[in-house]
Amino acid sequence: MSQNSSSFNSLKAQLLQAEIPGFPASWYYFGCTRNAKSRILKNDIGDFRLMALKSKKGEWQVLQRNCLHMGADLSKGKFTEQGLRCPMHGWQYSEQGMLEHKGKCLHRFPTIERNSQLFVFLGVESNFYPFPIESSNPLLFPKSPLRFSIQIPWFLLSANGFDINHFETVHERVFTSIPQVQESPDYVFRVLHQFRNAGTRLPNKLLRALLGEAMELDYSVFRGNCIYAISSAGQMKNHMFFLIHPNPSGAEVFLFALSSPGSMGSLPVLSFLFSPIRNYFIRRFFQDEIDSIHELSFMPDSLEETDLMFMQFIHWIQKQAHAANK
Ligand code: FES
Ligand SMILES: [Fe+2]
Repeated sequence: MSQNSSSFNSLKAQLLQAEIPGFPASWYYFGCTRNAKSRILKNDIGDFRLMALKSKKGEWQVLQRNCLHMGADLSKGKFTEQGLRCPMHGWQYSEQGMLEHKGKCLHRFPTIERNSQLFVFLGVESNFYPFPIESSNPLLFPKSPLRFSIQIPWFLLSANGFDINHFETVHERVFTSIPQVQESPDYVFRVLHQFRNAGTRLPNKLLRALLGEAMELDYSVFRGNCIYAISSAGQMKNHMFFLIHPNPSGAEVFLFALSSPGSMGSLPVLSFLFSPIRNYFIRRFFQDEIDSIHELSFMPDSLEETDLMFMQFIHWIQKQAHAANK
């Protein structure tokens, strides 16, 4: 037996045995704070019952929602001069969630706000930061995400970027180099794909006519559910950030197409004109994705050696920690 097939067989055996986390300790999308009518917003993500409070300084913080006395829903409480008052028996919390008379505090989840979009880390500790780093040419978050539902195991969506055999059939891309994966630091699994656009369908033909046939996809998955993908063709670079929220029927996906004004030309008017075109291609690409994967299931037994990269990714997900502080 060759070394390749023995490592393939041992990987397959591991995939058959190990469990996949149902809800990875990671970043999730809480919601939009623009036009919030109150200083308290409420949301449930997985088994986490959450609320976000806005401080007097205007900063939002996500906290556990249930009162430390008997668990009442604090998002139904009222802000007073002293802070937030529990609607049940009146325990008084500071706007940071401190319960002064008991010396205790509500659990505060790491929170990030970008262009009125609120993100929260759910898990034991936040040891990674997947958000695009601000630079001299900052990437801007859109006013709202595109939203999709999928009825397949949540990890099959992020695994799609490592399923190299589908790129030609679904997306009409032909590899021009051998993709290499990178697994460092250990919460990131990344690959750089280089393709040629061999499209016969209209969106792909248009893309090739506008930007040439060479394309790249730089695809990084953080902890399994959090993806930062940069696709490039000619002068155009698309930055996409998306978060997968596992749920009992599959997952909810929130996709943020980030704007990078500099990549569209130095004049703001150019980026204004390009934006709808770019969004059209992103929507089309993602819709092809959703249409192609909507009845997939995870069948480790039938995977082949050509599925090796996909299998390595699933195995990496199996090693990721579960969210534990429920
Ligand atoms: S449940 Fe909140 S004060 Fe009693
Ligand atoms: Fe795909």
